[in-house]
Amino acid sequence: MDNRPIGVFDSGVGGLTVAKEVIKVLPNENIIYFGDTARVPYGSKSKETVTKFSGQIIRFLMSKNVKAVVIACNTVSSNSFEKLKEEFSVPIVEVVTPGVEACIKATKNKIVGIIGTEATIKSGAYEKKLKEYDKNIKVFSKACPLFVPIAEEGWADNEVARLTAEIYLKELLEKGIDSVVLGCTHYPLLKNCVRKVLGEGVSIVDPACAAALKMKEYLENNNMLADNLGEVSFFVSDNTEKFDFICQSVLGKRCAAEKIDIDIY
Ligand code: DGL
Repeated sequence: MDNRPIGVFDSGVGGLTVAKEVIKVLPNENIIYFGDTARVPYGSKSKETVTKFSGQIIRFLMSKNVKAVVIACNTVSSNSFEKLKEEFSVPIVEVVTPGVEACIKATKNKIVGIIGTEATIKSGAYEKKLKEYDKNIKVFSKACPLFVPIAEEGWADNEVARLTAEIYLKELLEKGIDSVVLGCTHYPLLKNCVRKVLGEGVSIVDPACAAALKMKEYLENNNMLADNLGEVSFFVSDNTEKFDFICQSVLGKRCAAEKIDIDIY
């Protein structure tokens, strides 16, 4: 047994979609969530910058005595995971591999779409991993950078969100895909809108649940499960109001995030 908390982080509110799944599959774990609201978006930044920011966040989480970390961000997972794994001794679960495994299960015609931030798509991480699992799979990738500010604004399913989704997803639909991976943890916040554009015939793969199960499996195998009350504490690097509002709508519980200075880590 290990009653220390699990750290979960993202550039902003997107990682809450992963935290939600962690809470579901690991209800007795306490969680420390960090959203880098001062520096969102990560998706337009360089690999070096994303790696530097993530290192600071993991140091912050380690100062809170976490026993393991979930990188609830595809941009960090696809650009910085290897470096972070080398640098830190704390166990780290990322979201790309679980997303790839879920996609392999979902596709029947082996023509799949990946949507994510510019940095995630540019890294080619999904495409490379998918081809390692199945060399015959056809992968079409599309960066959808505007989805992140739309989600941060809380505009999950309005006209702007729908039009943006139509413009981004049209070309993927023309390729005959039968599955789309939401390769950015902000995108499940726009899932209804994405569903309307893709129609019922395309599976929408959200890596969050598979990532949460990976963490569960790790804790079980290493005898590190907790028997806590499942408390969640939230920290952000800038204004808390918008974060608190979206947090409440995603997790369905009141959240009062604490603002910290991430630059000291
Ligand atoms: N939610 C993050 C991801 O999964 C980052 C989005 C961003 O900050 O651009 O990639």
